[in-house]
Amino acid sequence: MKYKHELDTKGYTVVPQILSSRGIDELNVNVRFGENEGALQGWRRHSTKESSPTVASFHEDVAFIFRHVLGDVKNSTYSFALEYDEHSFLPPHLELVYNEISMTLCYFRDNESDLFIDKYWQENKYAERFTAAEDEMPPNGRVERMRLRAGDIGIFNGRNHLHWRDKFATALTWRGILFHFMRDYTAEELVKQTSWGIPDEKHGLSNTRYNKDFTGGTIK
Ligand SMILES: [Fe+2]
Repeated sequence: MKYKHELDTKGYTVVPQILSSRGIDELNVNVRFGENEGALQGWRRHSTKESSPTVASFHEDVAFIFRHVLGDVKNSTYSFALEYDEHSFLPPHLELVYNEISMTLCYFRDNESDLFIDKYWQENKYAERFTAAEDEMPPNGRVERMRLRAGDIGIFNGRNHLHWRDKFATALTWRGILFHFMRDYTAEELVKQTSWGIPDEKHGLSNTRYNKDFTGGTIK
């Protein structure tokens, strides 16, 4: 499968235009953001608690889509929406070791904001989120750019590939949901390690959030 192959060889892949305009509208209407986060999160804003049911329900859908795109089952860990503006950035980092797969579903942008990804796979030996120092940055030739339009979903292995966003030079509002998944641990082990729990299994997409081609497991 194209997406799975890309993810395994480049560390990321993009499934374009997965959200329908109704799905995009639903997120723009229902998701709200809190105050700016600290420097470690690059001063971006995260979704409020009140927005969690909307975000969680998209997470369940995306888990379903994921199984069809990538062909193997993952457990969902946690998700939240985020908003970048021109003052935000994302320091180069590796995800926590149990977040093998991350997905970014973009649902609004008025300018482009690339996620930079190191093509090079590296072992994650860290108990906490690892942030790279300047002399640990990859050479330019190893860096990929993942650019998403509203409605696109980017899938990447953030646990083993350094990734970051630069500060934007001009005005920018960029909103998306970040979903995390893992496949190394059993659900029971995950529950022991985290307090996030496991969303219920979902067996199909029954609403109009997604483009027709992406419902019923027909993504190829
Ligand atoms: Fe990340």
